[in-house]
Amino acid sequence: MNTQETIDKCYNIIRSKTDFVPSVAIVLGSGLGKHATDIDIVETIDYKDIEGFPVSTVKGHEGRFVFGYIEQVPVVLMQGRVHYYEGYSMEEVVLPIRLMRMMGAKTLLLTNAAGGINPAFAAGDFMLIRDHIASFVPNPLLGKNIDRLGERFPDMSNVYDNNLCDIIKNTAKELDIPLHEGVYIQFTGPSYETPTEVRMAKILGADAVGMSTACEAIAAKHAGMKICAISCISNPASGVTTEELSHADVIVATDKSSMNFKRLVFEVVKNIG
Ligand code: HPA
Repeated sequence: MNTQETIDKCYNIIRSKTDFVPSVAIVLGSGLGKHATDIDIVETIDYKDIEGFPVSTVKGHEGRFVFGYIEQVPVVLMQGRVHYYEGYSMEEVVLPIRLMRMMGAKTLLLTNAAGGINPAFAAGDFMLIRDHIASFVPNPLLGKNIDRLGERFPDMSNVYDNNLCDIIKNTAKELDIPLHEGVYIQFTGPSYETPTEVRMAKILGADAVGMSTACEAIAAKHAGMKICAISCISNPASGVTTEELSHADVIVATDKSSMNFKRLVFEVVKNIG
């Protein structure tokens, strides 16, 4: 089956289960998914019940769409995402983003756990993503263009919407939640970086490193969505401190920050309106 047929099939399965039309789509990253149940839930659909849909194998990543309302705003949440390192193709990795666009979401809020490259960042801090470096992962738009989603050569000079970034910054200020800004670099993982790779990323202009998000932002931009993204810095990246990295520590760190993260995300959605 080609990508268009898979998208249509998944979309039809979703529409056979709910006719909910979200305006904002939200992807909840590692350790952040538990707050999906804090919204006014209308419907949930497990990824495993959507034939052809990629299902996450990672601990800390549940796998379902949650439909409902945050303060009257109709949203679809992804409680868990899939990653390229799990063995899925980039087309599969970004399939959920395209489906949420087709469901009606025009705005996308991406979240993730990331390693802090910028020495000013501490574990538990938040970073607004202003731009990304995705040159080290395959582009999700490789292959035949899906014309009805977007154009062959989409512009990437403004992936993260300035208006949405302002809303996030103002919301963080109102809530008294410190917020850094910076550039996110995506590597494939699943191994964490070496200290030298992190130094390279720093020279290239990156402030935080992770294994998701940039590819999703590219697919969303292609499909004409307005995008914003927030990283939860779960650890200093490799070599920034001498401590070893572990996924368990990443989950613990994001878990600790997750109450503030939820406050920020929910208030941002309300302010996006
Ligand atoms: N590197 C890559 N991905 C990550 C990290 C990291 O240090 N922390 C959380 N996700």
